[in-house]
Amino acid sequence: MPATVVVGTQWGDEGKGKFTDLMAADMDYVVRYQGGHNAGHTLVVDGKQFALQLVPSGVLYPHITPVIGNGVVVDPHVLIAEMEMLAEQGVDCSKLAISGNAHLIMPYHIELDALHERHLGSGKLGTTKRGIGPAYADRSMRLGLRVQDLLDPKIFSEKLDVALNHTNKVLAKVFNRLPLAGEDIVAEYIEVCAPRLAPHIADTAGLLHEALESDKQVLLEGAQATFLDLDHGTYPFVTSSNPTAGGACTGTGIGPRQIDRVMGIAKAYVTRVGSGPFVTELFDDVGDHLVDVGGEFGTNTGRRRRTGWLDLVMLRHAVRLNSLTEIGLTKLDVLDSLAELKVCAAYELDGKRFEHMPYHQTVMHNAKPVYKELEGWQCDLSGVREAKDLPKQAAAYIEMIEAEVGVPVKLVGVGPSREQYVKR
Ligand code: IMP
Repeated sequence: MPATVVVGTQWGDEGKGKFTDLMAADMDYVVRYQGGHNAGHTLVVDGKQFALQLVPSGVLYPHITPVIGNGVVVDPHVLIAEMEMLAEQGVDCSKLAISGNAHLIMPYHIELDALHERHLGSGKLGTTKRGIGPAYADRSMRLGLRVQDLLDPKIFSEKLDVALNHTNKVLAKVFNRLPLAGEDIVAEYIEVCAPRLAPHIADTAGLLHEALESDKQVLLEGAQATFLDLDHGTYPFVTSSNPTAGGACTGTGIGPRQIDRVMGIAKAYVTRVGSGPFVTELFDDVGDHLVDVGGEFGTNTGRRRRTGWLDLVMLRHAVRLNSLTEIGLTKLDVLDSLAELKVCAAYELDGKRFEHMPYHQTVMHNAKPVYKELEGWQCDLSGVREAKDLPKQAAAYIEMIEAEVGVPVKLVGVGPSREQYVKR
């Protein structure tokens, strides 16, 4: 049975958790493939709100095996705290499988993330300061420690010595900070975290291949999004991993021919946290309205999100980069009270029109949006459950997206709860 990927098509916070959770009802495995606890997935089930950072969204279903793939960077303290929070709420995490090849976020990664940002000054990226970038940098430098190292205290200490030999010099000589003591880190990671995580550490690539071979349903859950992708996003204002669908292969060990469905999640408007270009950004009352009605504050960091109109140039690019087979449109209800809606059909710079993403990012930084205007529906969508009950203006908005990007919109979110959606 082939696997399904869910991927964000904008700059994150599209509401992937809600549709992943919905699709998980028919799945056997839900797998995170990149990122770390920079992600924040909010799920509302039976009026109870769950904010997940590392544990895959499917955990709320007892029949699901949640998997943290090799492409994820794991802060063991955060993972343990999240498992404890879920246990307190009566959610069973005993089936959680964590790849032994996933890399560990170490205390110095968190310190370095904050130091890098501070030293960048006004050029800062606006990271989540969770140590994500430095952890992936160490992975590329071959200085990283992996989850499986928790199972071997001798190897853990040896690798830590090598890493600290490098990192303590950087901390002291570049940033004028005190060096970190290896023993303190060993005590935390080997004595406190390892016993708690050991039962969950597994050969997740093998597990997923066996699952696919025995016709199980596997959902690969992206965190962050297409335009935060290290290769394809608005570099350097990106995260340090590959959220695009290709990352689902490298981040889990599943081959491309084993994926046959890729759902791109698009918010009905666009938001972004942190720095970087944003062609349709709004600085007016409509932007404030989207923040207020959409509750556009970071799940993780509480930061106010930047808001703007839906950008079809981005969405067309996301269709191509991810081989999207369908779109899940979220938060359509946030547009309910607006009389007039705009969507960006193209970018324009120096008399040139771009319907597809210009390869030169300078164009994106300076481009003006070419808007298409649509009539708002000005009624409450939160109770709509059938496509036939959508007001004609809302149906027109959805059909316009389909016509512009060439992919069907299969799910439409009309409120935060699990049951507030329309299937098309
Ligand atoms: P990092 O992933 O913490 O290194 O942050 C790099 C950029 O990605 C910053 O602009 C963050 O605000 C953004 N970012 C990281 N994770 C998320 C997310 O889950 N949603 C939205 N933006 C994110």
